[in-house]
Amino acid sequence: MTSLLDELKDYSEKNIYPCHMPGHKRHAFDHIPQDIARIDLTEVEGTDELHDPSGIILEAERFAALQLGADESFFLINGSSSGVLAAVSSCTDKGGRILMARNSHRSAYNAVYLRELDPVYVFPEVMEMPCIPEAVSADEVRKALDENPDIQAVLIVSPTYEGRLANIRAVAEAVHEKGIPLIVDEAHGAHLSFDEESRADAIRSGADIAIQSVHKTLPAPTQTAVLSVKGSLVDRVKLRRFLSIYQSSSPSYPLMAMTDGCIRYMADNRALIPAFKDNFEKLLKRLEVCDKLIFRPFAGELHSCMADYGKLLICTETAGISGTNAAKVLREKYGIETEMACPGYVLAMFTVCDDKAGFEKVLNALLEFDKDPILSGNAGCRHSFDKDLPVPVRVMKPADAVDSENETVPLSEAAGRVCADIISMYPPGIPILVPGEEISDAHRDHIIRCIREGYNIKGIGDGFVSVVKNG
Ligand SMILES: Cc1ncc(COP(=O)(O)O)c(C=O)c1O
Repeated sequence: MTSLLDELKDYSEKNIYPCHMPGHKRHAFDHIPQDIARIDLTEVEGTDELHDPSGIILEAERFAALQLGADESFFLINGSSSGVLAAVSSCTDKGGRILMARNSHRSAYNAVYLRELDPVYVFPEVMEMPCIPEAVSADEVRKALDENPDIQAVLIVSPTYEGRLANIRAVAEAVHEKGIPLIVDEAHGAHLSFDEESRADAIRSGADIAIQSVHKTLPAPTQTAVLSVKGSLVDRVKLRRFLSIYQSSSPSYPLMAMTDGCIRYMADNRALIPAFKDNFEKLLKRLEVCDKLIFRPFAGELHSCMADYGKLLICTETAGISGTNAAKVLREKYGIETEMACPGYVLAMFTVCDDKAGFEKVLNALLEFDKDPILSGNAGCRHSFDKDLPVPVRVMKPADAVDSENETVPLSEAAGRVCADIISMYPPGIPILVPGEEISDAHRDHIIRCIREGYNIKGIGDGFVSVVKNG
C-alpha cells in the first residue's frame, strides 16, 4: 500500500497549478525547506480530508489501526492534547462525572473545564527515591467506582511521564465491570504498540481509547499523535465531532504524512524495540556500580512490566547534589541535555533512535559524575501530592470556580480561599490544586516551600494566586 508521503509527492508532481492555499504555493523559501513545501498541500480533489476522510488519509489511518491493534485510528495534528480533550469530551455528558488519575495531563483538566464535568480523582501512590507518582492500580480504580456509581468514564495515564506503567488489563477489567469506557493517556507509550514481546500497549490490553504522542517516543516530529479506539463502549460519532472541534480545520499534511511514515517505519523495523530494550537494560546494569547516584527503574522492574524502558531517573539526593544542579553539570561538563530536572532527580530519556554511541556517552558521563558529583544544592524531593499533604477539599466544580468572579491575592494570604486556577509543578504539570479546591494551610506552605527550593510552580504569578471572589 502506498504511503501518504508518496501519495502527496505524486500529487505534487502532477501538472496542476495551485490556485488555493497554502500561500507558499509549494515554493521553497529560506524559511520553508523544499521537501516540506512540496507536500504541504490542502484539501483539494485527491488529497482527502482529515475531518471526513474517504481517500488517502482514510487508507493511512486504516493502516495505522491495523498496526496499533485498534478498530479505528485517527491522526492528531495538535498532539495528544487534542486527543485527550476529544476522548474525555466524547465519553461523558456535559456536566457528567469522570474518574481520573490525579496525575493526568493539563489537557484532561481542560476537558473537565470545557465540559463542566464533576471529576473524582484517584491519587496514585507516591514512590520513594525519587518521589514520583506510580501509575494508578486496579484496586484504587475499583474502589472509586464502587463509591461513585454515576461515573461515566475512567481516564488513567500509562506510562506516566516518569515511566511507570499501569496494569491496564486489570484496570480495564475493573472499568468494564461497570460497563463504561477506559481512556488511557498513553502519550508517552507509542513505542509499546510495536513491542511484540510484552504486548503491554493500552489498546491490546483492553483500553477503549488510547492516545499516543508518536512524537514523544518514536521518530516523528513534534505535535504528531494518534488516537485509537476499540470496542463498542465509545460513541464514535461523538468522538469524531469532538476531534473536529479540537483540531485545526487546516490540518498539516506534512505532519500527517510523517505520522503515517513513522508507523510504517516501526512496522517494518520491529527489531528496533528488542534492541532498544536490550541497550536500556544494559545501561541500567552497568550503572549498578555507582556509589552515590541511584537509578530507577531497577533492571528487574522492566521485566515485571511496572516500568517503561526509555525513562532513566537519576536520583541525586543520595549524592548530596540537587537534580537541577546535576542537570547543569551534565549539560555544561558532559554536553548532555536531559528531559527534566528538579531538586530531587533528573529524568533522561532514551528512544529507539539512541544508538550505542549515545548510550555510551551518557553511561560514561554518569559513571564519572558519580565519582565526583560536586556537592551542591538542596536535594530534597517533593511532589505535587506529597504523602504528608492532605487530600484537597473540593468546594465547587472546577468550571464553576473558573467562571465565577475571580481575584488575585498574595499566596501567603490565600489559605482558606477557593483556588480558581491550576497550580502545578512543571514539568510535567501535575496539579497540586485545581480550580474549586480549597487552599489549605498545608497546601499554601507546601507551595511556598516548593518555590523556595527551586521547583517550577505554574499558576502562581509573582507570588499571587487566582481565587474565587467571596469564595
Ligand atoms: C501524560 C501526557 N499526556 C498528554 C500530553 C500532551 O501531549 P502532546 O504534547 O502530544 O500534546 C503530555 C505532554 O507532555 C503528557 O505528558
